[in-house]
Amino acid sequence: MATVPTIRLNNGVEIPQLGFGVYQVPPEDTAEAVGAALEIGYRHIDTAEMYGNEKGVGEAIARSGIDRGEVFVTSKLNNGFHRRADALRAFDQTLADLGTDHLDLFLVHWPLPTIDVDYVETWKAMEEIYASGRCRAIGVSNFQPHHLRRLFAETEVRPAVNQIEVHPYLANDEARTFGAEHEIVTEAWSPIAQGKVLDDPAITEVARAVGRTPAQVVLRWHVQRGDVVFPKSVTRSRMEENFALFDFELDEGQMATLTALDRGERTGPDPDTFDFVPG
Ligand SMILES: NC(=O)c1ccc[n+]([C@@H]2O[C@H](COP(=O)([O-])OP(=O)(O)OC[C@H]3O[C@@H](n4cnc5c(N)ncnc54)[C@H](OP(=O)(O)O)[C@@H]3O)[C@@H](O)[C@H]2O)c1
Repeated sequence: MATVPTIRLNNGVEIPQLGFGVYQVPPEDTAEAVGAALEIGYRHIDTAEMYGNEKGVGEAIARSGIDRGEVFVTSKLNNGFHRRADALRAFDQTLADLGTDHLDLFLVHWPLPTIDVDYVETWKAMEEIYASGRCRAIGVSNFQPHHLRRLFAETEVRPAVNQIEVHPYLANDEARTFGAEHEIVTEAWSPIAQGKVLDDPAITEVARAVGRTPAQVVLRWHVQRGDVVFPKSVTRSRMEENFALFDFELDEGQMATLTALDRGERTGPDPDTFDFVPG
C-alpha cells in the first residue's frame, strides 16, 4: 500500500496530503463508499454537516476496525450555525453523528460576509472549541485574504488550513499565495473540477506522455504544488486510481502545462457573495 505523505500544520498536527471527499455521496451510500476508501488505504476523510452524511462516515470508521487515531477526520460548521451558541451546539452534534470524541480538523464552511452574523464571532467560537481539546486543529473554508486579515486583527488563533476551490481551470493563486505566506495550508476542493478538466487535450496529452490517467495527472499536479486534496468518487476503481499518485512525477514542463490552463472558472459559488443558509 502506498504511503501518503503528510503535511505539518501550523500547530504541529500532521495531515495526510491525500484524502477522500464525500460531498454529494448520498447518506445511504456513505458507509459503503468510505469503507471501500479505508480498505484501499485512504486515512483522511473530508465531510461536512452540510453533506448530511457524517453518520455514514462514522459508521464506516467504526466498522473498519482501524484505530480512530489512524484516520484524519475533517468536518465543517454549516452556514446556519455561525452564532456562538449555535456553533458550539453544532460541533457537539457533529461529534455525536460521527460517533467520535474528537475531530482532527473543524472548518468554518463559508465566510458568509453578506449575512447578519459576523464570521469573527464564528471564529471566536471555533477558538473555544479548539481550547476544549476536542478538536486537534481548526481552520476555514472559502475565505479570501481580506476575510483572513480580519481574523488576524481581531482573534487569537491562526487558521491551520483554508479549503478553497482549486483545479487547473481555477488557479485561485491570490488565496493560495496568501496562505503560503501566513502558514495556512491550502486544501484544494473539487481538485478535478468534478470531472470537467479530464477531457482537456493538454491534460490528456500529458497523461499519454507519463502513461497515467488524466485524473492521476491532475491530482499529482496538486500534490507537487504542496496542496492537500481529497477527490470524491463512489466508484471503487476510481478511488484506487486516485490513490495511486506516489509512484510517478510530472516534470517542470508538464507542471507548467497544467498551470497554464487557468481561466478563472469556478465550479462552485463565489465566497464573497455566497449567502445560502439551510432553512
Ligand atoms: N469546502 C467546500 O466548500 C467544498 C466544496 C466542494 C467540495 N469540497 C470537498 O472536496 C471534495 C472533492 O470535490 P468534489 O466532490 O466537488 O469534486 P471532485 O473530487 O473534483 O470530482 C468528483 C467527480 O469526479 C468523478 N471522478 C472521481 N474520480 C474520477 C476519475 N478518476 N476519473 C473520472 N471521474 C472521476 C466522480 O464521479 P463518481 O463519484 O461517479 O465516480 C465525481 O463526479 C468533496 O467531496 C468535498 O469533500 C468542499
